Amino acid sequence: MHTAPDQFNGGTRAVVPQILRRRHRGTAPIYRFKIARQSGLSDSALVLLTLQKRRSKLIREKETRMQTTTAPAFRKTAETFAAGAKTLEQKYFISSEIFAQEQEKIFSKKWVLVGHQSQVAKPGDYFVQEVAGESLIALRDKDGRVRSFYNVCRHRGTRLREGRNGHLSAIQCPYHAWTYGLDGRLIGAPHMDDVEGFDKADYSLHAVNLALWEGFIFVNLADGCLLEKVFAPLSGRFSHCYLPKLRSAKRIEYDVRANWKLIFENYSECYHCPGVHPALSKLTPYDSAENDLCEGPFLGGFMRIAKGNSLTMTGNSCALPVGDIKGEGHNRVFYYSIFPNMLLSMHPDYVMVHQLWPKSPERTLIFCDWFFHPEAFDRTDFHPDDAIEFWDMTNRQDWHVCELSQQGIASRAYRPGPYSPRESIPAAWDREYLRHVE
Ligand code: FES
Ligand code: FE
Repeated sequence: MHTAPDQFNGGTRAVVPQILRRRHRGTAPIYRFKIARQSGLSDSALVLLTLQKRRSKLIREKETRMQTTTAPAFRKTAETFAAGAKTLEQKYFISSEIFAQEQEKIFSKKWVLVGHQSQVAKPGDYFVQEVAGESLIALRDKDGRVRSFYNVCRHRGTRLREGRNGHLSAIQCPYHAWTYGLDGRLIGAPHMDDVEGFDKADYSLHAVNLALWEGFIFVNLADGCLLEKVFAPLSGRFSHCYLPKLRSAKRIEYDVRANWKLIFENYSECYHCPGVHPALSKLTPYDSAENDLCEGPFLGGFMRIAKGNSLTMTGNSCALPVGDIKGEGHNRVFYYSIFPNMLLSMHPDYVMVHQLWPKSPERTLIFCDWFFHPEAFDRTDFHPDDAIEFWDMTNRQDWHVCELSQQGIASRAYRPGPYSPRESIPAAWDREYLRHVE
């Protein structure tokens, strides 16, 4: 970085009378010269004075620009609408070939959400999750590190863990009892010492790339980019919320007869809210959305809570705040879609997370978790059901219209329809999706 030497400025300040700098700040340069001459300054001091003023002005302008670009700029939904945007073609919702391409190009290549670190709180805790047709084990090892492995024995390929979650001190294959440590190393293989050249070190479990973002566990089946690089646009954006510390009070699984993209499109707009969600619309005005992420893999912003303190059945807060919530943050719900399988909804008193798992072109499994402040759980003012019941009702209303959409889109009469300006975010989500599959 190039800056003028400090002694240069210091020297200038030394020859310019204080009174001149203060009184004539707003005058034009030539006029300032005249005034300065009258004050008896030399020509070189006048040149230095002008240069210093220009430099100060440039610094002020740069600082203003930086403030504008670093502070989140929220824009009303309709302001970012790309005129002419239409819904996706039918093939993207019903074609098995496209579904296979999505699994290959998206779910096998991108960072995909599989859980939260609170699900593996202690060493030995594990859960199993299928990603792009592959069964994976995620666990916390003895050193406290969260790891993931293919759920495949290195002997004859047997599935190692059938259960969905639990606790292990080692991973033992149910077939011939080969045993792996929590770090994936093969530590026991009965009678294999009789095999010439056999070395246990050659048969560790196959590891999967895993990384944590704000306490959420992501895996990547490819040797792609670092997660920190991909998630850089989100860096520090949610630090007001203690996401890594939160704990889920409840998970509900939904088996939805609709394409996974319809779930994203539905989540990304509230054009449907007055008709589909009468209770939600009473608490949060459907046209109050303002977005700070309007293009790319991360999309969303906030909506206002206009009535009550939270989105719950009673309208009351149901738990301790989930973070350092200040001022108008108490009246905002932040909704973000994180490509390709996470929906992150941050309320003042709880965080709801949807994990999407496409099962076929017309079927999606959805895990919905409700996270709360860890200290909220033991308090008498903790009423998680107030939030869970509210969103379970709202979720089901959404899934129902998504299923109706799926049915209609499968018709020979379906043609892509025009998005409204209130659907700028689903249109942006479609554009991002097409960038990955085309
Ligand atoms: Fe796992 Fe034989 S297949 S021990
Ligand atoms: Fe909805």
